[in-house]
Amino acid sequence: MPNLVAMNDLDNKTIMHLLERAGEYQRGERAPVAGTVVNLFFEPSTRTKMSFEMAEHKMGLTVLQFDTAFSSVLKGETLYDTVKTLEAIGVSGVVIRHEEEEYYKELENCKLSVINGGDGSGQHPTQSLLDLFTIYQEFGKIEGLHITIVGDIAHSRVAKSNAAALKMLGAHVSFVCPEVWSGDYETSENIDDYIEYTDVVMLLRVQHERHAVSALFSKADYHKQFGLTEERERKMKPSAIIMHPAPINRGVEIADSLVECERSRIFKQMANGVFVRMAVLEYALKGRE
Ligand code: CP
Repeated sequence: MPNLVAMNDLDNKTIMHLLERAGEYQRGERAPVAGTVVNLFFEPSTRTKMSFEMAEHKMGLTVLQFDTAFSSVLKGETLYDTVKTLEAIGVSGVVIRHEEEEYYKELENCKLSVINGGDGSGQHPTQSLLDLFTIYQEFGKIEGLHITIVGDIAHSRVAKSNAAALKMLGAHVSFVCPEVWSGDYETSENIDDYIEYTDVVMLLRVQHERHAVSALFSKADYHKQFGLTEERERKMKPSAIIMHPAPINRGVEIADSLVECERSRIFKQMANGVFVRMAVLEYALKGRE
């Protein structure tokens, strides 16, 4: 059965199929799959966990509750043995968020479907798909658009997932960040070089839990140099939109007043996440019921 662990595993045709299915779910299509799923979140999450649960309920799937804090994980049980246990009792698919990059490689022999809800600084494929869905709905295409991704590029699984997928689909992607967060990407430190002609400004969260940003910048300095300020927003093209995977550091990546402004699609992204995750669950579970 298909897993969905990284955007690189999907070709353009499959990505576009998932976006089409997300649109059909948004228009009220009923789910053609059944099964039992478990959401295993070893790292904190609000959007991914809740929108998977919403998607699963909308699809009529059976959802077993799993709380890592009250599980045998605390007795030292491995991820592999945890997932094999769920497989043994009849679970068809698991959604996993884990701090370890590529944790899913140790699950390759499992027969149930694995959907990656984020692995360390690795991949976040369902976030990427909901971002693509939001852009596609807005512009009716992805090819030829200019997307500027701003922020903590090196540590961001959202940047990694989106960079691959957007380029594959023919978008022009620019990266803006402090040089120390460049990783393997070609980046610029000057957001103002892009702001006037980009179609999408995609802001990334500064990940305070993965490194000490305060050692580099004060929040105010980061906002001034790399943030979407009101002044920068006024320079954007009339048709351009603002995106952010959230959670948001208000006043750091983006001015508080812009979070819900007319061109912000931040809460639209969250709404779209439910339909995209329905499409992904269908993709992963089809044939398992
Ligand atoms: N965007 C995102 O993954 O949010 P959560 O960490 O709240 O799931």
